[in-house]
Amino acid sequence: MMKIITTELTKELRKQFALDWKGIHGASHWARVRENGLRLAESTQARTDVVELFAFLHDSMRVNDDFDPYHGARAAQYAESLHGELFELDDDDLSLLKIACEGHSDGLMDADITVQICWDSDRLDLGRVGIRPDPNRLCTMAAREPAMIEWAYARSVIGIR
Ligand SMILES: [Fe+2]
Repeated sequence: MMKIITTELTKELRKQFALDWKGIHGASHWARVRENGLRLAESTQARTDVVELFAFLHDSMRVNDDFDPYHGARAAQYAESLHGELFELDDDDLSLLKIACEGHSDGLMDADITVQICWDSDRLDLGRVGIRPDPNRLCTMAAREPAMIEWAYARSVIGIR
């Protein structure tokens, strides 16, 4: 199978990312979200291409590291603009990716399983900003597993500077 996160895609993301590449919403966060998502996808029906693309795109259009309520919507538009150039998804998966990006910072819980896994993957990386993930704010049973939370938390706090 073709890998979905290519060198060309990450080059593009790095070129346009407005914030610190090594910051709390930068590349190491994206990489951990991807790992979280792929692990959650092993026990669910989540679409792994969508989960991986979400990891690398969802925060890519942030303009600050604090309150930026439209960064998810911008990420969804950006995903659409890169589709067909730097990655390929079918229509259903592209729509899931856009929904996941658009709603990821609104505290939502109810969605397609792929979208839920995207959101959980991101929430499981909150340790980097000093927050232990709250099982009640995770969408899926897979993410609420204490072992999953601990695994993700331990990796996320290493990123604290
Ligand atoms: Fe994020």
